[in-house]
Amino acid sequence: MANRTRAERKPLGQFWTPQLIADFMLELVGFDPLWKVIDPACGEGVFLMRATERGCGTAVGVDIDPEALKRAQYLLNGKVSSVKLFCQDGLDPIQSENVFWQGNYDLVIGNPPFAGTGYRIRDLRVLSRFELSKVRMNPEQNGSIEQGVLFDFPIEAKRQKPSQAIEVLFLERFVQLCKPNGKICVILPEGVFTNSSLRQVREWMVSNFQVRAIIGLPRETFRSVGTTAKTVILYLQNCPPTEHNQTFLAEITQADWDSGLNADGNAQLIRILELFCKFWENPSN
Ligand SMILES: C[S@@+](CC[C@H](N)C(=O)[O-])C[C@H]1O[C@@H](n2cnc3c(N)ncnc32)[C@H](O)[C@@H]1O
Repeated sequence: MANRTRAERKPLGQFWTPQLIADFMLELVGFDPLWKVIDPACGEGVFLMRATERGCGTAVGVDIDPEALKRAQYLLNGKVSSVKLFCQDGLDPIQSENVFWQGNYDLVIGNPPFAGTGYRIRDLRVLSRFELSKVRMNPEQNGSIEQGVLFDFPIEAKRQKPSQAIEVLFLERFVQLCKPNGKICVILPEGVFTNSSLRQVREWMVSNFQVRAIIGLPRETFRSVGTTAKTVILYLQNCPPTEHNQTFLAEITQADWDSGLNADGNAQLIRILELFCKFWENPSN
């Protein structure tokens, strides 16, 4: 089965996740085979494959690129009958005829395309589907008032941005597809947690969800597919934060990419998973 070249993959942000990291993320969220799982930008389908190999009965993959989906079909072929693949834009309206696109997933997992490859969304019809395409107005900068009052309820003034990084919109899409109390586990560029221009994305995250873990990945993670971008795993639970919410933070610095999670070379990943479990057994420690 023909594979796209690296140069052909770049404009679509096609950087495949190593199996090792897909396994790590499934362990992190405590994967249960009874869960309904979706990857809204599934590429060759590594997350779907690893979930179904663990017994998952309902796995759905969406990708905009028919060639990537052909590869996914080929790689998944014969292994499972429980994976459904759809070729569509992962930012399409949720109210679509595709019943698998209407949300309520126990786990939304994946590695969406990043804007680092020049992939920003400028189409206002697409932007308008997402809260994160808007910014709060700053009264000092534009002379307008930040809050108004409508029927005694304060209203917050927001303005539509002319463009937004595609991964930010995908982050919100992951949430839209997740059922209440469900889990979201996503690879994002580190900039989502450090860029001052994305502060409102972080505020949205911590004020609406439980941020259970943020785990840095080494630059080597995607080297074999053509990038050394610094990325992180974000694990959110789709429920409001508690008053004293805490987040588990860790950094992966070494991994044996060609071996499974239980290989000696991956002792650090196993240790991080153990520490994560301990942290959530007694989060105040
Ligand atoms: C970083 S790759 C990751 C693929 C897979 N989730 C993985 O981790 O190996 C991002 C994927 O998003 C797909 N993609 C790009 N733009 C998309 C869009 N608007 N809607 C759906 N998929 C898109 C690309 O074709 C690519 O397969």
